[in-house]
Formats: sequence, C-alpha cells, structure tokens
Amino acid sequence: MKKLFVKTYGCQMNAYDSAKMADLLAPLGYAQTDAPDGADMVILNTCHIREKAAEKVYSELGRLRTLKAEKAKAGGQMLLAVAGCVAQAEGAEIVARQPAVDLVVGPQSYHRLPEMIARAAREHGHVLETDFPALEKFDSLPAPMESGISAFLTVQEGCDKFCTFCVVPYTRGSEESRSPDAILREARQLAEKGAREIVLLGQNVNAYNGEDWSLARLCDAIAGIEGIKRIRYTTSHPRDMGDDLIAAHGENPKLMPYLHLPVQSGSDTVLEAMNRQHTSDDYRRLIERIRKSRPDIALTSDFIVGFPGESDADFEATLRLIDGIGYATAFSFKYSKRPGTPASTMRKQIPEDVKVARLDALQKLLLKQQYAFDDSQIGKVVPVLFEKRARDQHQLMGRTPYLQPVHVHGDVSLLGQVADVKIEKRTANSLHGALLQERRA
Ligand code: 5AD
Ligand code: SF4
Repeated sequence: MKKLFVKTYGCQMNAYDSAKMADLLAPLGYAQTDAPDGADMVILNTCHIREKAAEKVYSELGRLRTLKAEKAKAGGQMLLAVAGCVAQAEGAEIVARQPAVDLVVGPQSYHRLPEMIARAAREHGHVLETDFPALEKFDSLPAPMESGISAFLTVQEGCDKFCTFCVVPYTRGSEESRSPDAILREARQLAEKGAREIVLLGQNVNAYNGEDWSLARLCDAIAGIEGIKRIRYTTSHPRDMGDDLIAAHGENPKLMPYLHLPVQSGSDTVLEAMNRQHTSDDYRRLIERIRKSRPDIALTSDFIVGFPGESDADFEATLRLIDGIGYATAFSFKYSKRPGTPASTMRKQIPEDVKVARLDALQKLLLKQQYAFDDSQIGKVVPVLFEKRARDQHQLMGRTPYLQPVHVHGDVSLLGQVADVKIEKRTANSLHGALLQERRA
C-alpha cells in the first residue's frame, strides 16, 4: 500500500473533490493517511478565493520539499501535486517557483490524475493539466466507495455572474450542470453506502439546469430515493432563486428549512459596483417570499466589508439590512484584492483599519443574531439527524433542520437516524439536549 496525504483548503466543493481524488487513486494502491511525513503522494487541494491563498500554498510547498528530500534520501519517492483553484490560476508559475512540485492539476482536470502520475513517473518531469473540459471529469470518476451520514454531491460548477471582487468565474469556468441521471445515480450509490442526508453543491447551485431540470425538480427526485431523509443545497445566488425552488421549501418535506443566500452588502451603490445584479430591496422582497413559503427557514449569508468606495453610510446600510432580516448565522470577510478581478484596480480602496473596525461591528451584530436564533430553540422539541460520536464518547453529535449542531447522550445505534430531541441549553458553538424516546423508556 502507498500512502496518500490530501490537504484541503476552502469550500465544500473542494472537500468533495478531495474525496473523489482519493477514490480515483485507491485502485493505484494509495490509501489515505493523516500526515504528510513519509507519504508517497501529497496533494494540496487549494483555494484562491481570498488573499494570501497562493502565498500560503508556496510556504506549505517549501515545508513539503524538505519531506520530499528526506524521503528521497531514504530511497523512496514522494510525488507532490497542487490541485484546485490556485493550480488553475497560477498554472506553470507553480513549478517555476517550486520545482519540487511534480503535478499541477486544475479543478476540471483531476480525473486525469492516474494518467498524470504515470507520466510523471515515466518522464521524471512536471505534468500540468488545467483545461476546462466542461464536466467531462464526472463521467470518469469512480462510484463512491463509502459515505458519511451527510454526503456532498456536486451537481453544478462554475459561475457566470462575474461579481467584480471574485476569482471563481476565472478559476472554475462558466456555469455547467451535470445531468439529472448521473446525479441521481450518485445519490442512490451514496444512500446505499449509508448517506441519510445529501448536500447538493455548486458555486451557483440554484442556477442548476441539467437537461432543463430545475434544482427544485432535482430535489423532488432525490427525495424519492430510499434512505434519504434530508436534502440541502449550497451556495445560491439571489438572481437564480426560482419560483419553484421557493415553493419547494414549503412543499418538499425533505428539503431542510435552511438557505445560504449571500447578499454581500446592504448598499445599492456597493451592490452595483460589485455587479451583483440586484438591489437591497430586491433581496428583502425575495426573503419575504421565501419566508411566506417556509416561515421558519434559517437564513445565512456572506458579507464583504471595505469593498472599494464603501462609505460609512454604505456600511450602515449593510447593518440595517442585517437588522431587518435576522440571520441564523453568517460569514463575513474584509474585502481583499484578487489579481485579475475588476475591483482590484478600482480607486478608493479602503484602509485596513477601517475594514477591521467594520468587520468587528458586523460580526458583533451577526453573533448576537446567531445566539438569539440558537436560544429561540431552547425548550423546543426538534428532529435531529445523528451524524457521529461526539468527542465525549458517551455523546452523539447531530443536527437540527436548521443545521445547528446538537450534543445528546445516546446510543451509537442512533447514528443515521432522526430522533426527537428536547433542546435544553446552548454553549458557544453547540446546542445540548435530551432524547425524548429515552425519557419515555
Ligand atoms: N474579498 C473578500 N471576500 C471575498 N469573497 C469572494 N471574493 C472575495 C474577496 N475578493 C467572499 C464572498 C463570497 C465568499 C465565498 O467569499 O463573500 O460569497
Ligand atoms: Fe463569485 Fe459572485 Fe459567482 Fe459567487 S456569484 S462565485 S461571488 S462571481
């Protein structure tokens, strides 16, 4: 057996890709290990979304080069691969800066890894694949060999929105959807391997349009698969929130009441400069319609503070929007320049100290909302899907429909089951509760 170490940076789509790369390499005799020391192959599956991503990768590669040299001295070989969005963006620059790298493979090309490895071994040279063969890779990926209780399934990739701050349209290419057949096959395979929840992934997952199916129709079909109890999807764009998807939140009982719908800013001036293609009121009206369909839906978003030109008044408009909506949780970032994106050359870049202060104020408000949302569950009985043992071995970790983690004393036979839990308290990162059945027994 050869040892494979995969380090994943960034989003859930990268986590999905990393698992697929490991599956692809298993037939070549690679088994995963949890440290790079002594590994026969190391893959860095990189993310390019925010600043310093590439720099972090180069410093990690510097450390790996030493391990590679040690392995060579001992008579072995360590193949070093850079995958993901930094690979796509930097390409040949990576081997120029760090010659210890053997393989550079973009997010659309990693199905060619087995062949690339053979070429690297044969030719003792660097092998580079950063084409965009739209979705070809999915046809070449093996069926899942195992599955967690909650499983990721990529259904859509790429983005045509071109928000002016974002690299994704350049590193992941244009919007492409997999066929419903291929997705349903993979969902059935995951269910057979033990998945009880499917999380549909895509950079713009609600733009899904494989063979003219909408995401709502796909969710309906997946709801019919034996064993699947819950369906989620992420990440969505406000412009692609179709009527049938909004309706599905009220009609498809397996579709969880949770929606990650990034708005980025509450200021129309900033939204325009970001090329978001919607106003803050468009977003508010959309949320109103979604809440009409599913009143208890938990909302989350991404926010950027300190976008070029953002004034105090613009920032306050963001705080007002957050105040008005009420989020269950959210992600927030300081704007960072991404080379090659339009916003990176805009005038009126915002000083770092202003960004820091705005981020701090925004995060305080968001955390207050998160705690309020979590506290609103205390005393309620909620269905929890149990996913794994908690660190405390007598406890299980599960999730509410709203994706909140819950810790409960219970037997491992509950893993993969949904059971009613009475929520008793909240700590910083989790809810805690008691099983109802056990009480009755
Ligand atoms: N600066 C800061 N945040 C960014 N994001 C994307 N690009 C940038 C950038 N240049 C954030 C957005 C997006 C999330 C995935 O990352 O909020 O929704
Ligand atoms: Fe990036 Fe905007 Fe596309 Fe999201 S919608 S991936 S932020 S360009």
